[in-house]
Amino acid sequence: MKNVLITGANKGIGYEVARQLAGKEFHVFIGARNQDAGRKAADEIAKKGGKATFLKIDVAENASVTAAARKFAKAADHLDVLVNNAGIIVDGDNGILEISDELLRKTLETNTLGALRVTRAFVPLLRKSKAPRVINVSSGGGQLTGGADGWSPAYCISKTALNGVTSQLATALPKFAVNSVCPGWVRTDMGGQGATRSVEEGADTIVWLAAGASQKLTGKFLRDRKEIPW
Ligand SMILES: NC(=O)c1ccc[n+]([C@@H]2O[C@H](COP(=O)([O-])OP(=O)(O)OC[C@H]3O[C@@H](n4cnc5c(N)ncnc54)[C@H](OP(=O)(O)O)[C@@H]3O)[C@@H](O)[C@H]2O)c1
Repeated sequence: MKNVLITGANKGIGYEVARQLAGKEFHVFIGARNQDAGRKAADEIAKKGGKATFLKIDVAENASVTAAARKFAKAADHLDVLVNNAGIIVDGDNGILEISDELLRKTLETNTLGALRVTRAFVPLLRKSKAPRVINVSSGGGQLTGGADGWSPAYCISKTALNGVTSQLATALPKFAVNSVCPGWVRTDMGGQGATRSVEEGADTIVWLAAGASQKLTGKFLRDRKEIPW
């Protein structure tokens, strides 16, 4: 059985990725910072016959991430797929000339550094997999091609930087597959109910990669199972 850890898996796209992978013979580790929400999500998946374990992890806190890696190592001897999905848009992220340093720092702490620090902490466990994989859930908002449209600048900058993290990790970890994925505009608490895609559609490329797409795609940015420009 393959092991997958998904951060921010108590709801939204992360939960849907966990739900689908549990149906594909994965032992899913539900990474969540809120214990009640994380346990509830793991219980829901287990009730439907999947193998799901809650793992407390706040990606913005170093101590929480290292504690989660230690706890994971007691439950499983290796990790096959890490999905860095946890992400935030901070209230007030409205204009590049108006946002505070604090707002930008807070956004980067979770969306960019969070993914890097979780990857760093779990690399020893990923190295024990036959085909290790890291999937960074990014956003078209982080694409530089086409220029910025002004929407949520701190969030977009954090995803541009996350794409940089993906590219760097792909080079540093040549035996791994490391990708950025844009899920599209998805109906979640973050995307809102007016978004164009269901969570099933948003999860699709992430699930496809996790379940065994070619490792040769490493270092690329993907949407709808296809490469897109950075
Ligand atoms: N929805 C879209 O249209 C869209 C488009 C492009 C990219 N994305 C990306 O897709 C990913 C998932 O977004 P979503 O739409 O599913 O959003 P969501 O429903 O708001 O879920 C976000 C998840 O991230 C978790 N999270 C936030 N900060 C965390 C932290 N410090 N530690 C651990 N977990 C944390 C949240 O936990 P709590 O419940 O505790 O807050 C929640 O589980 C994000 O990276 C987002 O940027 C979304």
